[in-house]
Amino acid sequence: MTRKWWQDAIIYQLYLRSFKDSNNDGIGDFQGIISKLDYLNDLGVTAIWISPHYESPMDDNGYDISDFYKVSKDYGSIEDVKELIKKAHNLDIRIIFDLVLNHTSDENEWFKAAKNPNHKDFEKYHDYYIWQPPKYNESGEKVMPTQWKSWFGGPVWEYNKATNEYYLHIFSKKMPDLNWRNENMKNDLKKMTKWWIDLGVDGFRVDASNHIEKNWDFPEAYPGYENFSSIPKHHEYLEEMGTEIFYPNDIFTMGESGGASQEEAIKYCGFDNKEFDMLIQFGHCWADGDWDNHITPGKWAKGRINVRHIKHSFDKWFKMLKGKGWNIIYWHNHDQPRILSHYGNDSEYYNESGKMLAYTLYFMPGTPIIYQGEEIGMTNVDYQELSDFRDVEVFTEYANFMKSGATHEVAMQTLRDRSRDNARSPFQWDNSLNAGFSLTTPWMNTVKNYKEINLEQQVNDSASLFNTYKSIIKLRKEEFINNGDIYFIDIDNEDSYIYINETEKSKFLVVANFRNFEIEVNLDINIENYKNIYFNYNNRELTNRINLKPYEALVYKFEK
Ligand code: NOJ
Ligand code: CA
Repeated sequence: MTRKWWQDAIIYQLYLRSFKDSNNDGIGDFQGIISKLDYLNDLGVTAIWISPHYESPMDDNGYDISDFYKVSKDYGSIEDVKELIKKAHNLDIRIIFDLVLNHTSDENEWFKAAKNPNHKDFEKYHDYYIWQPPKYNESGEKVMPTQWKSWFGGPVWEYNKATNEYYLHIFSKKMPDLNWRNENMKNDLKKMTKWWIDLGVDGFRVDASNHIEKNWDFPEAYPGYENFSSIPKHHEYLEEMGTEIFYPNDIFTMGESGGASQEEAIKYCGFDNKEFDMLIQFGHCWADGDWDNHITPGKWAKGRINVRHIKHSFDKWFKMLKGKGWNIIYWHNHDQPRILSHYGNDSEYYNESGKMLAYTLYFMPGTPIIYQGEEIGMTNVDYQELSDFRDVEVFTEYANFMKSGATHEVAMQTLRDRSRDNARSPFQWDNSLNAGFSLTTPWMNTVKNYKEINLEQQVNDSASLFNTYKSIIKLRKEEFINNGDIYFIDIDNEDSYIYINETEKSKFLVVANFRNFEIEVNLDINIENYKNIYFNYNNRELTNRINLKPYEALVYKFEK
């Protein structure tokens, strides 16, 4: 296969609402991005993926789209989008939009028609969504068609009186799922996608892509996720989109899927397949759950980080796609806590663990996605009131925790540790009002540590996290690190993170301690000719046995 631009890309994920507010209404916007393009260029970014910008009541911050063809007034106008694309292209930065094909907002015109038998377009649109009649229990009371649980905590069904039916929503009740078995619906989505392509966008990140097909037998199950996740037929739909829309238009795509076998991974993003170019998978995320906790269950309970699991997950994906497809590497996105607070240590070892995470991730092969604010070491939020949070998921889950016996304090700490809002607070540009994000109180509070943690403070400090990111990105490009071949050393070690990434030009050895205590590592390799190029304590010559301090991490380059 001829080499594609995205194989050499450095992608930056930009959370539009919280990046930069240009008109001081407290909400990030397109002009804000435009004003910071030079910043992104200076960092070395070559593509930006922007969270949904479409018209939306913002129940789920724009993943609930009421008009696919309109730009949300919060973010600007179509003219701003065109200006951004043009100015980004002038800097050789590509623009990737978020494409939401699994659901719409309940305020979308399609759904308004679909739920109302008196609407003139009811016949056409009713079947664009997924409906089921009520069931009745022994006492004759109406009950939901199944007990399936939504990703945001409540049931997946919402009753619609006008038709005496329930509609399916695997996310919030304001996000009804689309029916991909309806040809007209599919065609409308294709038309819409093509419209954005014609505007000049370079690619898409396809939201919730493994959920678009459902089990239409609607069997009883709890939580029942298997009935709306990775059902084989979804590949048919994705391939159809790929063959008809993405590939003929030379559009880059990355899908989102919770997990995949090798066979599936290759269907999604094998070089010869036509669904996506790359896949965002979550194997290495949430490697620190306490799965036995029943008060704040699932991802919500914090346990010990399983470092082996993180290594094995990356290793599995490198092996699965080796020579057959292309990997993405990233620490986290807008759906997970801040990496420095999550896998690092944002109190005692802020700098050390921040750099350790940068070295361990960004010397691995694949195309990296840097999440907004990660490059300056932003941390989880410090919110004290439930009303400080914004995410729709937070409120259903808070209620669930309380029902399961959590105290208010436990529930609040859980949200500060694990909620998606942790990654969504405004970017910390400088130490002025609202971290330089906006002159008005932002839509979501800035984290108070912005006086110490901000870009301005790091720009001129050569030892800062920001400059570490910048320098690694530069080296990544010069040395074609995206293109290397990786192998882990002592992969089953519970505390260390060690690998060699061999590129055409050289070899990089990363030796790191993922823990807040000292560990000893033994390297059974020929240590000659390795030069220490990055360190987070002191420069160290390579030896076969090393005592690593808490979060100590070293990067060596093999001089050929
Ligand atoms: C995945 C997105 O990343 C997440 O933020 C969103 O809530 C769901 N899909 C629903 O669109
Ligand atoms: Ca604004």
